[in-house]
Amino acid sequence: MSENNLENLRKKIVDLASESLKNNDATGWFETVYTDAKGDSSQVPWAKSTTHPYLQDWLEKYPPQTEGKTAIVIGCGLGDDAEVLAKLGFKVTAFDISPTAISWCQQRFPDSEVNYFVGDLFNLDSSLQHSFDFVFECRTIQALPLKMRSDSIEAISSLVAKKGTLIVITRYRDSETEPDGPPWPLWPLSEGELSQFKQLGLEEVRRDIFIEEDKPGMVQLRLQYQRL
Ligand SMILES: C[S@@+](CC[C@H](N)C(=O)[O-])C[C@H]1O[C@@H](n2cnc3c(N)ncnc32)[C@H](O)[C@@H]1O
Repeated sequence: MSENNLENLRKKIVDLASESLKNNDATGWFETVYTDAKGDSSQVPWAKSTTHPYLQDWLEKYPPQTEGKTAIVIGCGLGDDAEVLAKLGFKVTAFDISPTAISWCQQRFPDSEVNYFVGDLFNLDSSLQHSFDFVFECRTIQALPLKMRSDSIEAISSLVAKKGTLIVITRYRDSETEPDGPPWPLWPLSEGELSQFKQLGLEEVRRDIFIEEDKPGMVQLRLQYQRL
């Protein structure tokens, strides 16, 4: 995609998200992004149509035990990350608030073993609590307004089983103040926000920092937590 198209898409996201927030609906705009894309993943700005490279790298460096283990993917988008975990042998559940995203996953992967469902992180069935050996969260929290971050971290943490692993991939900001510049949904997570995982009983066991050549000002983290 050209720089120009990318900039237009980025502006569209900021406008949609800001409008959504004005209407007191911080998550409604995701469905609009997926429906407007009309099956063209290049119109979904976060879609990579392949496993997220930081997940792929982690799976290769630290191959998890998958036999008889359960995994869940938060805000699974177009399903690539859920699929790789299922191929490795996890029994995978994956959900997204966008019905269009979920039916897109089902069309892309008709023979999938993944249990996809439309679901809201803030309203999940209580039977899912502490049920997953592996929880994968990639860029969902950072797409939510600051006032929803704490609840989202709590909801994600509650899914991790005893001794389970949580992987979080997120953009990172090194300040607790509200960032300047473009409005939400482009605000990275802060150390204070991340510290809530620890308060919720998850120990940070590994942190990797990524700065990509073409995005020098953007710090991304891959965090690995474990419930003790
Ligand atoms: C920035 S996208 C990231 C998608 C995917 N995780 C990835 O990294 O490609 C955030 C995703 O979270 C989903 N989402 C946002 N709020 C959600 C919620 N409350 N419950 C479930 N999914 C949500 C959106 O529909 C969207 O697919």
